[in-house]
Amino acid sequence: MDEVVVRRRADGATELRVNGVFVMDDVETSSERLLADHVLRSGAREVLVGGLGLGYTARALIDGGATRVLVAELHPEVVQAVADGAGAGPIDDPRLEVVVDDVAEVVRTLPADGLDAICLDVDNGPDFLVHPGNAAIYGPEFIAGCVAALRPGGVLAVWSMADSRTLRGTFAEHLHDVTGTAVPVTLQGRDETYWILSGRLPHR
Ligand SMILES: C[S@@+](CC[C@H](N)C(=O)[O-])C[C@H]1O[C@@H](n2cnc3c(N)ncnc32)[C@H](O)[C@@H]1O
Repeated sequence: MDEVVVRRRADGATELRVNGVFVMDDVETSSERLLADHVLRSGAREVLVGGLGLGYTARALIDGGATRVLVAELHPEVVQAVADGAGAGPIDDPRLEVVVDDVAEVVRTLPADGLDAICLDVDNGPDFLVHPGNAAIYGPEFIAGCVAALRPGGVLAVWSMADSRTLRGTFAEHLHDVTGTAVPVTLQGRDETYWILSGRLPHR
């Protein structure tokens, strides 16, 4: 059983930790919001998000005009914290549905050709896992499942702490326009680069 803590730090920031490992805080959330903007810019309106976190991607999708946002979040404590106002919460909007489940399970149940985009931000990327069980999320079988759930022209976008040639290669087996967008961020005075890796299904 994972130990999930959402807490207010001494510096006033809200922080999410799982099993003692830092997942995110609400200090620098530009890359989480960019993940949403990336798919909105492609015209996506019906979107699956893997990982609620502190709600910034989901909030940006709703505020940016998405008509349906389905979020799969592993931990009920995270869903409750955002509902109680942590991070970008509460997000009281009928267009948003949050299910407490592994996104891998949710993708398995999705109908084919039903979504405009899938945004995945469940972990730090393929090479820096917080949950070892999430390795499969970056693997060929799961990516193929996501692709099957997308409409023609649909977009798959993944947040990652680093660029990944392997993940780009997996994307390229199914998707066109595979790109990596570098997102410069400053974390506690340090300059870092996060990545949005994405690809698009051809239009029919
Ligand atoms: C980095 S946070 C997401 C941040 C989010 N993009 C935001 O804007 O705040 C990762 C989230 O994914 C959740 N998570 C981890 N593995 C998951 C999985 N396999 N399925 C669904 N959610 C998962 C974690 O509990 C955590 O809430």
